Amino acid sequence: MYTSRIIGLGHYVPDNVVTNDDLSKIMDTNDAWIQERTGIKERRFAVKGTEDTTSGMGVKAAKIAIERAGIDKDDIDFIIFATLSPDYYFPGPGVMVQKELDIKTVGALDVRNQCSGFVYAISVADQFIKTGMYKNILVIGSELHSHGLDMTTRGRAVSVIFGDGAGAAVLTRSEDDSRGILSSHLHSQGEHAEELSLIAPGMGKRWVNDIIKDLDNGEEDTSYFPYMNGQFVFKNAVVRFSEVIMEGLLKNGLKKEDIDMLIPHQANLRIAQFIQKKFGLGDDQVYNNIMRYGNTTAASIPIALTEAWEEGKIKEGDTVVLAAFGSGFTWGSVIMKW
Ligand code: UT7
Repeated sequence: MYTSRIIGLGHYVPDNVVTNDDLSKIMDTNDAWIQERTGIKERRFAVKGTEDTTSGMGVKAAKIAIERAGIDKDDIDFIIFATLSPDYYFPGPGVMVQKELDIKTVGALDVRNQCSGFVYAISVADQFIKTGMYKNILVIGSELHSHGLDMTTRGRAVSVIFGDGAGAAVLTRSEDDSRGILSSHLHSQGEHAEELSLIAPGMGKRWVNDIIKDLDNGEEDTSYFPYMNGQFVFKNAVVRFSEVIMEGLLKNGLKKEDIDMLIPHQANLRIAQFIQKKFGLGDDQVYNNIMRYGNTTAASIPIALTEAWEEGKIKEGDTVVLAAFGSGFTWGSVIMKW
């Protein structure tokens, strides 16, 4: 039986820093509200027309992860790309990474699980490696939110939260079962699909033809902006985060005290602090960077994991827990022995 383990991590964020004060110049918001409700101080917004597209940022993160993994790009057997903000409606960004990195014709899979995307992607990679199908898998989470947000006061409850960036991991096959991914746990609850969603363009409710017709008529359509029922999402998030972390611990006979590092999806600092308190974890056992990047959805966990590792906060033998919750609703956790 094989296990999979992360052997390379990388992240990339655009240079362009946008502070809360910057946002308050274009909409009715303020630094105090944003910090108090979310913990966010600033985020990165990609500059239009640069290489910083969703796939472009993913490529930059991937190059670092591959180099740190000490493998050649041609050793990669499979690519998994998680995002809710692809460059194109189709094809997905997985194939763009394959092209940009000039990787031979390996499979490329796109994961559409929003904030839980990276956790889902790692779980998929783990299964492919465990069965022996692939040896080295490149997993990327990347988001470019800034060009698709409603940057007016109408959209402020959503737009101030999100930021752009990418993170990547290389997973490899190992025969040492004392290290690596111990288990992953995935859940969803489609009855709440519309509570955090971007409805258009889609073939369900807002067809592209309809949108174009309405634009021609001079009518405004907000269905192509993300919608979030913030308080409802918040309430579900704190419950599901706790459940799915506990599920992972129980599966592996671990206790709360065994967690060396929890990397929660960076949705809201208040959510992370609630979970930290609930599990009785110290400040050095939970990694947060939402203050600097905002919520980067599928990119938030790989960016945070990379930074925590770079800062020496994750050491060999540590029990590392990844946990996410978001649109779908979807949620999940990964338990690893580093
Ligand atoms: O990553 C996926 C998962 N996402 C999450 O987990 C996010 C979960 N939800 C949240 O984090 C919070 O619900 C938010 C941070 C999004 C919002 O915080 P809230 O405490 O739920 O605020 P609210 O939406 O209930 O709004 C409270 C007030 C409203 O004004 P009134 O009606 O009380 O007069 C809003 O209009 O704050 C107002 N408001 C703002 N004021 C200044 C909303 N957005 C802003 C803003 N600046 N940006």
